Amino acid sequence: MSRKTPAQLRSNLWFGANDLRSFGHRSRAKQMGYANEDFLGKPMIAIINTWSDLATCHSHFRERAEEVKRGVWQAGGFPVELPAMAITETYMKPSPMMYRNFLAMETEELLRSQPVDGVVLMGGCDKTTPGLLMGAISMNVPAIYLPAGPMLRGNWNGQVLGSGTDVWKYWAEKCAGNISDCDWTEMEDGIARSPGHCMTMGTASTMTAIAETLGFSLPGASSIPAVDANHSRMASQCGRRIVEMVWEDLKPSDFLNADSFDNAITADMAIGGSTNAIIHLLALAGRAGIKLDLRRFDEISQRTPMIANLRPSGQFLMEDFYYAGGLPGLLKQISPLLKLDCLTVSGKTLGDNLAAARVSKPEVIQTLESPVCASGGTAILYGNLAPAGAVIKPTAAEPGLLQHTGPAVVFKDYNDMAARIDDEGLEVTQSSVLVLQNSGPLGGPGMPEWGMLPIPKKLLREGVRDMVRISDARMSGTSYGACVLHVAPESYIGGPLAFVRDGDLIELDVANRRLHLQVSNEELNQRRATWQAPAPRYTRGFGALFAAHVTQADLGCDFDFLHAGAATPEPEIH
Ligand code: FES
Repeated sequence: MSRKTPAQLRSNLWFGANDLRSFGHRSRAKQMGYANEDFLGKPMIAIINTWSDLATCHSHFRERAEEVKRGVWQAGGFPVELPAMAITETYMKPSPMMYRNFLAMETEELLRSQPVDGVVLMGGCDKTTPGLLMGAISMNVPAIYLPAGPMLRGNWNGQVLGSGTDVWKYWAEKCAGNISDCDWTEMEDGIARSPGHCMTMGTASTMTAIAETLGFSLPGASSIPAVDANHSRMASQCGRRIVEMVWEDLKPSDFLNADSFDNAITADMAIGGSTNAIIHLLALAGRAGIKLDLRRFDEISQRTPMIANLRPSGQFLMEDFYYAGGLPGLLKQISPLLKLDCLTVSGKTLGDNLAAARVSKPEVIQTLESPVCASGGTAILYGNLAPAGAVIKPTAAEPGLLQHTGPAVVFKDYNDMAARIDDEGLEVTQSSVLVLQNSGPLGGPGMPEWGMLPIPKKLLREGVRDMVRISDARMSGTSYGACVLHVAPESYIGGPLAFVRDGDLIELDVANRRLHLQVSNEELNQRRATWQAPAPRYTRGFGALFAAHVTQADLGCDFDFLHAGAATPEPEIH
């Protein structure tokens, strides 16, 4: 493998010349107290840090950034920390998903506009992983991903609590009158008790596992709990490794291909990953110029057993997963289904990375022969209600609802749903199909995680805990239930979901991948003819940019102008 020379470093364009502009660049580095020996001829390593006081999952990132710097210095690089938007799943409205593309653009432009040779990307909370990776793929400089790591298990009254999953579960019990206010407050104190991202197999754990499987992280990085000392050591290891990657000129385009995406989807199915992964993987593939179709998820799901026994589809949490062998242990178990010759940021293949992996708790990471579920956690549905597809996670649903026909109870948007769902007069039964409109990429906006519509309280009191629910929204990876999501095209732009009315019969047949509205084409055409498009939500700012360019769920909700295409020119150095 040929290695770069110092003169070939990208940063050398800023610092290396003997002219007026390089004088300015060097003198300003010296303004910060650095000497020529610190930065001249050395790989400049950006550490893109999505820390903020509101990014609760990343509250350890200031320390970790210092540990990355330690590794960069050790390996002879020059570290520079660059803050980027901390997309916080908890607090950002109207939906953090609206800002994934913002972070992707910010990442790409931070790297392009400055003297950067390589980058360590620090993220973990749901949208930060795809946002950072999308930007790095588009910029295509050597990049390594340091995941935040999951938080420790939650704890209440001798019971283990999982992020999100147990919130929904116990909220339903509270609404049914089975949990006291005092219990509820104790849970609030015990469910999130350390730095780190959600510790169920939600979107954060799913996306960091996918990043590692794609080849973007060092072996095992995604499973280490945020507060484990091994996480600090992983941070400095990333710092050391990225410097070598710069000399090797190992870029995302060198290890991303159709096989690495197949591996990522296979891992997603084996871990019972979040449905959100589908949208993010479609967007990542779009950035990399790799053709990926929604149907590929179903094909791989059908041949991939789910072997991780993790909530919401299973029993355990990410801390248990780490002690059981973590992602390397799981990948080793499913290695017959993987393309092991895919390259990774370690400089070795996925197969090489797994050589020493093992599983020490078989109840947490099961086997292909004895899986948690014989097929993966995702089914792609089509029909007259979702011509461009919809998604369901059958492993997280009541099995009896996977083939169901029932009358629609329609809510025209989230506020309508919130106002009426618990109305004692609402005509709804256990067999009704709850439909939420105007919650997609444009309608939400940002496809909020409203897809797990609440069960009406009067049904909760009768003991009902799951119903068929259909929307163009997403669902938290920690959620569960017979929720049909990502219906495309969305209702806000006149997709068929917009034309469903109360009482229409809807057929869900997961085995046959079918989602059908039992209304004649003539009647649907009549409804379409009288449908009025909603007024635009934004006329200025990022919202207007988002509305003008976001693609539908089946294409990954990236901006159309950010898909792979002609290279963006490097800046001229003046
Ligand atoms: Fe950050 Fe769940 S809130 S990962």
